Amino acid sequence: MIQLENVKKRFGEQEVLRDVSFEVKQGSITTLIGRSGVGKSLLLRHMIGLDQPDTGRIFIDGANIVGMGTAQLNAIRRRFGVLFQDGALFDSMSVRENVAFPLREHTRLGEKAILDMVAKKLDVVGLGSHANKFPAELSGGMRKRVGLARALALDPDLVFFDEPTSGLDPITRGAIYRLIEGTHVQGEITYFLVSHDISGVMAISDEIMMLHEGKIVTRGTPDDVRTSSDPIVQQFLLGSPDGPIAID
Ligand SMILES: Nc1ncnc2c1ncn2[C@@H]1O[C@H](COP(=O)(O)OP(=O)(O)O)[C@@H](O)[C@H]1O
Ligand SMILES: [Mg+2]
Repeated sequence: MIQLENVKKRFGEQEVLRDVSFEVKQGSITTLIGRSGVGKSLLLRHMIGLDQPDTGRIFIDGANIVGMGTAQLNAIRRRFGVLFQDGALFDSMSVRENVAFPLREHTRLGEKAILDMVAKKLDVVGLGSHANKFPAELSGGMRKRVGLARALALDPDLVFFDEPTSGLDPITRGAIYRLIEGTHVQGEITYFLVSHDISGVMAISDEIMMLHEGKIVTRGTPDDVRTSSDPIVQQFLLGSPDGPIAID
């Protein structure tokens, strides 16, 4: 479904992505973990065509999106949903209009069909009764849920999540993970998550990889990662300041 080959990106002297290669199995939940600032969001932006690597190739469903023209890229983008780290909701639009936005942009559905679709998606995330509210009137967890409903609006077969639980309390985080897992259809929809919330993603991911110093240092099932003998991985899991990962 997704394949990265030798993706490299630097900003001046700073080599953020030194050499990243991996593939994501279709229909799975795959999660990229790593410290803050390691380049997870940057990598995700590359995968959705918002950033271009210095070198390397990024295949989405067999098509290399590196260097692809806007029209072709937009056609591919239409097929996937994105939940951005900050939610990226439109503050001036109601919850209903936020979720309707991709449907208005990318489909020719009539007003009734759009409102029906929006109502369905809002029910899925438990916000059916909040459609008229504005983002400023919602809690952090509710805003994430609106973002999720919007990411799912076009019934995508591929969804990207950047830190879907950042800034939330543990219970709300659990609720968001349950929703992510609940909306995922194993074998049919591919979810790619980026997170530093290791405990939460362990429970829902089929595959986990860790980005460290610009490279993927481990990948495998949550159990593989949990029992990894790599001191970098263990330090991250334990949240320990002592170990091979330098504190800055
Ligand atoms: N457009 C850019 N210009 C310069 N540096 C950038 C740019 N985008 C990202 N970076 C740098 O890349 C690094 C990784 O950032 P980011 O992907 O946001 O990390 P993460 O999501 O893992 O916390 C940071 O050091 C950041 O400063
Ligand atoms: Mg980030």
